[in-house]
Amino acid sequence: MSDKAKLKIKDKEIELDLIVGSENELGIDISALRANSNVITLDPGYKNTGSCQSSITFLDGEKGILRYRGYSIEELAEKADFLEVAFLLIYGELPNKKQLDKLLSDINENSLIDEDIKKILENFPKSAHPMGILSSLTSALIAFDPLAVDVNSEDDMYDAFVNILAKIPILVAWVYRRRRGLPLDYGDYSLGYVENITKMMFQLPNSEYVQNDTLVNAINKLLILHGDHEQNCSTSTVRIVGSSHAGLFASISAGISALWGRLHGGANQAVLEMLEAIENDGGDTKKYMAKAKDKSDPFRLMGFGHRVYKNFDPRAKIIKVAADKVLDELGIDDPILEIAKGLEKEALEDQYFVDRKLYPNVDFYSGIIYKALKIPNEMFTVMFALGRLPGWIAHWREMRKNKEPIGRPRQIYTGENLRNFTNIESR
Ligand code: CMC
Repeated sequence: MSDKAKLKIKDKEIELDLIVGSENELGIDISALRANSNVITLDPGYKNTGSCQSSITFLDGEKGILRYRGYSIEELAEKADFLEVAFLLIYGELPNKKQLDKLLSDINENSLIDEDIKKILENFPKSAHPMGILSSLTSALIAFDPLAVDVNSEDDMYDAFVNILAKIPILVAWVYRRRRGLPLDYGDYSLGYVENITKMMFQLPNSEYVQNDTLVNAINKLLILHGDHEQNCSTSTVRIVGSSHAGLFASISAGISALWGRLHGGANQAVLEMLEAIENDGGDTKKYMAKAKDKSDPFRLMGFGHRVYKNFDPRAKIIKVAADKVLDELGIDDPILEIAKGLEKEALEDQYFVDRKLYPNVDFYSGIIYKALKIPNEMFTVMFALGRLPGWIAHWREMRKNKEPIGRPRQIYTGENLRNFTNIESR
C-alpha cells in the first residue's frame, strides 16, 4: 500500500504522508498543507481531525474497544486499583509495589491545602454548582503554589502531578461536605487513595466511620472507567490550554469547565434528572422516546449517543452490571433503574436509534450508582472529574514532553469585506 495520499486542489496535486497508528488506524498528515498550497481544512467539531499522536488510550468506536496503555478496560475495571491505573495512564506501565507505595506516600505528603482556600469556598453561594466551585478552587490553588505553574523537568512534573492528585480529592470532599453542612477535614492517610476519598466524603463528626466495601469498590470502578478517553472535549481542552505553557493546574481547571457541559461529563447529572422526570411523569418511556426523535423538540435521550462509539460503549456495559450489583448489595429497589433498562431496550430496537448507531454511553447508568451511594445529582460530574484527573495529567505530560506547538486552529472568514468607517451621526 502506498504510504502517501494525493489531494487535488483545483489543478494542483499535492502528496501528503500517511501516518499509521499501532492499531493500523490511518491519518493523513496535513501539517504542511497550508505552507504548500495556501489552503486549510475545515472540520467543525473536529469530527475528522486528529490533533496529536498519542500512546495513552486506544479506542475503536466501531468495535466498542477501549484500552489504557494496551490494557483492556474490562480487565482494569475488574482487577485494578484506581491509583495503579493513574500511574499506568501517566507513565505508561503498571507500577510495582515500591512505585505504588511511593506514589501514595508522596500524595499523602502533599495533602494539605492552605486554610485560606476554605475561605474562598465559604464565599460561594451554597447553591453554586460544584463543578464551577471545583474549577475555581483548582485555579485558586495556583495562587498558593505559584512554583507549580512552570514545570518542565520530569521531577518538577512529578511534584505537580502528585500535588494535584493529592489536593483535588480534598477539594471534592470539601465541596460535597459544605453542601451538606459538614465540617471540612483532611482525611486519613493510613488508608488507600480511594478508601481515603470515600472516608473524606462520608465520615460524620458524631460517629465512628465504618468503611462500606460496596461503596469503595463501586467508586474505584467508576473512577477507573472515567480515567481517560483520548481526545474528548475536556482532554483536548487541557492539551490546548497547556500548549500555551499555562501550568498544569490552570489547564486542569479549564478541563473541569469543559467536562461540566451536558453533552460531555454533565450528561451523568442530566441522565438522572431525565430518569426522575420520566418517573414523576408516570414512567411513560414511549413518550420520551418520541420526544427524543422529534426534531422540533430540543429533548435528547441523555446518556445515549457518542461522537466516537457507533457500538456499545464498553464502559456502559460494565457500569450496567455494576449498577445491578450495587443496588442488590445495598438492598435498594430503585424504579429508575427499571426505567433506564426499559429506555435502553426500546432505543436499541428503534429504527431512529439503530440508523444513527446511538447506544448507551458511560453516563447512562453511572448516575444510578452514584444515587444509590447517596451522592447528590450535582456531584456526579465532580466524581467524573476526579476519575478523569489522571487522564488529563497524562495528556498534559505527553503534550509537553512531545514539545507540541501551541494549539491554534485557523478559520474561514465569512464576514464583511473592507469598508469605510461611518461617523456616528451618519449611521
Ligand atoms: N437523542 C436523540 N438523538 C440523538 C442523540 C440523543 N441522545 N444523540 C445523537 N442524536 C442524533 C442527532 O440528532 C443526529 O441526528 P440527525 O442525523 O438526524 O441530525 C445524529 O443522532 C447524530 O448526532 P450528533 O449530535 O451529530 O452527533 P455528535 O457526535 O455531534 O454528538 C453527543 C455526540 C454525545 C454529543 C450526542 O450523541 C448527544 O448529545 N448525546 C446526549 C448527551 C450525552 O449523553 N453525552 C455524553 C457523551 S459520553 C460521555 C462524555 O463525553 O463525557
